[in-house]
Amino acid sequence: MSLFEKIPHAGEMVDLSRLPDHVGIIMDGNGRWAKERGYSRLRGHRAGVERLHDIVAATSDLKIPYLTVYAFSTENWKRPQEEVSGLMRLLIEYLHRELAELCANNIRIVFSGEEEHIGPRVREAMATAAQASAPNTGTVLNIAFNYGGRQAIAAAALRLAAKAVSGEVPAADLTPELFEAELNPNGLPDFDLIIRTSGEYRLSNFFPFESAYAELVFTPVYWPDFDEREYLKAIAEFQTRSRRFGGVAPA
Ligand code: FPP
Repeated sequence: MSLFEKIPHAGEMVDLSRLPDHVGIIMDGNGRWAKERGYSRLRGHRAGVERLHDIVAATSDLKIPYLTVYAFSTENWKRPQEEVSGLMRLLIEYLHRELAELCANNIRIVFSGEEEHIGPRVREAMATAAQASAPNTGTVLNIAFNYGGRQAIAAAALRLAAKAVSGEVPAADLTPELFEAELNPNGLPDFDLIIRTSGEYRLSNFFPFESAYAELVFTPVYWPDFDEREYLKAIAEFQTRSRRFGGVAPA
């Protein structure tokens, strides 16, 4: 069922002609959602995957070109081993289960993050999903997995420095644009809107470079309760903001 069948007045909740191009979501609160219900943390993450399914479909129905979700940060390795391996399994399951539907909806899957430390089965599932969906021309779903913003910036700078030292890139060509291309090989644009669920007010190393002019929307709703209505509310809040990018509002 499409978003417009589920919520027939979606077009009244948001202005469909002024949607963000790139939405980022920090999917937080799975653990607290689970704890309040006496469930395991992993069951909270499982409920989170269901929401991910719905929000990706809604993004595609709205024809928003880019969606980035924070699924596993470089800091998440500090969690108990059982939870870490559970999250790895969930990514494999998600990709296996959803790939056909994502492709049927013309969605392309890409990943941000370091491959280091990720096991071969997870990497294989990621590569299969990226390859199979590469020809798709609809919404790009970027899954940030083993991602840390500072590390990504430092790694891109080091790669570029190595290219300059080897002569592959002449020093005179080291422009901000070249750096951005090195940082974002998938060509994703800067964020317009970043949503964080669960009542936490921080970005937690989520794309610090690309979020420079993003509008931030924080909601107390835990991620497993973040449904399409909440998504439309966050987009409506984004649409109330005056974006000046350091300039002044038009007269
Ligand atoms: C934060 O909630 C959430 C995460 C660290 C993982 C996000 C993962 C999902 C939504 C599901 C997994 C999706 C895939 C595709 C692997 P938390 O555990 O920090 O919640 P808490 O702050 O309430 O403890």
